[in-house]
Amino acid sequence: MMRVVSFAFVILCIYAGNSHSKPSCGYPMLEWCKSQEIAGECGVEKYCLHRNATRPNRAESSVEVGLYYESLCPGCRMFLVKQLFPTWIMLQDIMNVQLVPYGNAQESFDGKKYKFTCQHGEDECLGNMIEACVLNITGSVAFPIIFCMESAFDVEKSAQPCVEMHSSLWGAIDGCVKGDLGNELMHQNALRTGALQPPHKYVPWVTINGEHTDDLQQKAMSSLFHLVCSLYKGPKPPACTGAQPALDLRASFC
Ligand SMILES: *[C@@H]1O[C@H](CO)[C@@H](O)[C@H](O)[C@H]1NC(C)=O
Ligand SMILES: *[C@@H]1O[C@H](CO)[C@@H](O)[C@H](O)[C@H]1NC(C)=O
Repeated sequence: MMRVVSFAFVILCIYAGNSHSKPSCGYPMLEWCKSQEIAGECGVEKYCLHRNATRPNRAESSVEVGLYYESLCPGCRMFLVKQLFPTWIMLQDIMNVQLVPYGNAQESFDGKKYKFTCQHGEDECLGNMIEACVLNITGSVAFPIIFCMESAFDVEKSAQPCVEMHSSLWGAIDGCVKGDLGNELMHQNALRTGALQPPHKYVPWVTINGEHTDDLQQKAMSSLFHLVCSLYKGPKPPACTGAQPALDLRASFC
């Protein structure tokens, strides 16, 4: 628990510090450790060096968490916002997330385009498609954008501000949604959802390393964090064990 608090404190204080001197370092937070130059500009070199040195070898055995969902289903939003995203924030070095917006939608083909009908109406179909486009186009900030939308008052109206908060790609997203790419991406999601074994009976439908069982679903719903920690086969990161990190992160307090 202390670690969560300290980590949050480091980030808060860096934001606050920057807001006095210059607006910000000009990179989304999740990219701060991408290169030494960015880390330097954002004032997090020590944190990134430490993180890079201690981060597990991803290829090794990351836990794959799949979420088959639809954009306006209340249970999906609760799981994504309160379990999946916070778990990913803490454990992103040992887990991969695959989001598949489609859920209980239905598709038909009119000879030119796929047509979709959604459980929660047309707004949901639009929300699904925006999120499919976000996943295809925005790379490492896709999940924060989708979290932003799903946790907002109005999923669809929040799309543009959420995309703009994390990237400059709204034009591309809008083009995707209105054009053939969005239609094609939703069709791919229909195929992926239709290919589930066992077939999904409800949403949110969770797969772990490609597998779905009642037991895994129930464990994911009650504490995805513990499930991912317990399934990870490599050395457990400090977030899982509560161990003291090797380097004192207070070194990067402001
Ligand atoms: C962290 O590691 C990545 C991949 O090895 C490297 O590209 C990046 O420059 C490193 N970041 C820092 C801040 O050293
Ligand atoms: C985006 O979608 C296109 C068309 O299906 C595909 O070729 C491409 O690999 C996708 N890109 C990503 C990053 O998923």
